Amino acid sequence: MTERLRIALQKKGRLADDSFALLKKCGLRFAIRGGGLLARVKNMPIDLLLVRDDDIPSFVANDASDIGIVGENVLVEEQLVAKDKLDAEITMRLGFSRCKLCLAASDVSGITASSQLEGTRIATTYPGVLGKFLKDQGIKAKSVEMKGAVELAPSIGIAESICDLVSSGATLEANGLTAFETILESEAVLIQSGRTLSPEKQALLAKLMRRIDGVIKSSETKYIMLNAPKDKVAAITELLPGSDAPTIIPLAGSDLVALQAVCTENIFWETLEDLKALGARAILVLPIEKMMS
Ligand code: PRP
Ligand code: ZN
Repeated sequence: MTERLRIALQKKGRLADDSFALLKKCGLRFAIRGGGLLARVKNMPIDLLLVRDDDIPSFVANDASDIGIVGENVLVEEQLVAKDKLDAEITMRLGFSRCKLCLAASDVSGITASSQLEGTRIATTYPGVLGKFLKDQGIKAKSVEMKGAVELAPSIGIAESICDLVSSGATLEANGLTAFETILESEAVLIQSGRTLSPEKQALLAKLMRRIDGVIKSSETKYIMLNAPKDKVAAITELLPGSDAPTIIPLAGSDLVALQAVCTENIFWETLEDLKALGARAILVLPIEKMMS
């Protein structure tokens, strides 16, 4: 019987949706149905274990799962609150679900810096990370542990400030709170324990990681095509972020050349405007579907 690689994933939420999308782009075929704990990948020997995100680090550490995809914030928190050090380490950064764990307070609190936290109450679902921050800074404050809806704590009078995740900033804004300090930056990460996997699982994991790497790279990479005056090619090439030597094709009967290049970094509107100012015309930016170098 073929051994199946088991990946622990958050069952629902923003990070879960992005994780499922990433695995689908890697060619894994599966369907997530409500309530199920295990989803079978149809075309590869992989099972997805769908669980609460705070359980993922310990499941990986305790061999309930071979690898996991989780927010770095959850990994760090679980490491800090675990009685014994969890055998779970980051093997790969995934670049999505970027967010920050911030301290925030309302304008009426008068708190605008962590130095003002002494003797106050801070509401959080991250007692581990917050506790370490306060200890490192030598601040004596009370951490009020909650299970969610932390942003409501100041308005209902149970804390002066909060320590919570900020992604777009909409939740803070909607609750009249302003972040004044970032204590942790986070993104989705692939985690693994120090145990050695069987050669079959190891080979499958290596293949999956190569595909993930390709998906991440191709999402940032664009193919750019434009026409440019011959004498501006050098200046234009310099503006293209992270590109190798471009392909230059002379256009018959004109001073223009067609230029094509792979750009490994995002191309912003500003770059296009700068290219146009240099005389580039008919500028096309195309997505890249797959990449393998
Ligand atoms: C996080 C966090 C905030 C919100 C911030 O919650 O606790 O409530 O996201 O995001 P924003 O800056 O884009 O508004 P999440 O959605 O992960 O759910 P949870 O609080 O139930 O964990
Ligand atoms: Zn929340």
